[in-house]
Amino acid sequence: EKGTYAHYMLKEIDEQPIVMRNIIKNYQNENNELKLDADIRSAMKAADRIYIIAAGTSYHAGLVGKELIEKLANIPVEVHVASEFSYNTPLLSEKPLFVFISQSGETADSRAVLVKIKEMGHPALTITNVPGSTLSREADHTLHLYAGPEIAVASTKAYTAQIAVLAILAVDTANVKGIQLDFDPLQELAIVATAMETLTGQKEEIEQLARDYFETTRNAFFIGRSGDYNVSLEAALKLKEISYIQAEGFAGGELKHGTIALIEEGTPVIALATQENVNYSIRSNVQEVVARGANAMIISMKGLEEDDDSFVVPHVNELLTPLVSVIPMQLLAYYAALHRGCDVDKPRNLAKSVTVE
Ligand code: M6R
Repeated sequence: EKGTYAHYMLKEIDEQPIVMRNIIKNYQNENNELKLDADIRSAMKAADRIYIIAAGTSYHAGLVGKELIEKLANIPVEVHVASEFSYNTPLLSEKPLFVFISQSGETADSRAVLVKIKEMGHPALTITNVPGSTLSREADHTLHLYAGPEIAVASTKAYTAQIAVLAILAVDTANVKGIQLDFDPLQELAIVATAMETLTGQKEEIEQLARDYFETTRNAFFIGRSGDYNVSLEAALKLKEISYIQAEGFAGGELKHGTIALIEEGTPVIALATQENVNYSIRSNVQEVVARGANAMIISMKGLEEDDDSFVVPHVNELLTPLVSVIPMQLLAYYAALHRGCDVDKPRNLAKSVTVE
């Protein structure tokens, strides 16, 4: 039930700190150590390459997962859009492990890939919010998101839950492989949960930004580099899906290779700046678009902020910044849709789970 909330989407955005704490609780044992099934551990250890298969927002979580697994567990990862995999099947490694990410566990495009790779004899792990779902039953292993039912068509808490579980999976695999890490995911996720609470308490500020930038615009651009680029893709999907504003997520460095031609007087450009090593370059991109008339908004992170930034998210571990930077993006989309009179929870032409290929 949505209780006092006007929309499920807003309720689900607010639930994200609780979901982080549920994940921490469910993935640790009484000694505060990670608790994953032995068969998942051996599947991860045996894999020489991981193929993540997903659609939409779950695909965007997969892009963050690639970075986590490669950096922490030192296994190469490819991320594929499920609907393309059947035609563009990549050359597979000798010991592939397929990881399906799906909130509903019912996405037909992902299921088609699962059927195909099972016929080929490859192992599969499903990360889902619905343990009895088709993708969970038909895979060899399941990891649960513990996010509670997600009702709004626009996915919010499932995205952050997927990233949190992928971080846990990456660190657990590193532990099993004997890789020493200076990163305790349970502690870091607890810091994230507190940061999320701060952010969900700043709705008025974000609502005002949505008014200033999205009230009448036809289009919008989200830019970022490195980890911020992954979030810019999700930010654009969220905005277009519920507010019908044409939006694109772009790698900051790619702008000058074509897209900057679209910048006109007043075009909203939202730049994410939470990564220290690219902070200077993303800010240069902002100057380039401002010089062409863009209405730029910089969302930065505590410790990297500058005076004119529009919004600053609390500091969290650099590998986990998508978990916090996505929250103002979700809220911007929510308020943009609300102010434009759109049906936030049930956008036109869309279904919660896409069960046809
Ligand atoms: O249930 P799934 O995670 O497999 O769904 C995948 C996509 O259909 C889903 O994420 C979709 O993109 C959302 N509506 C995005 O908000």
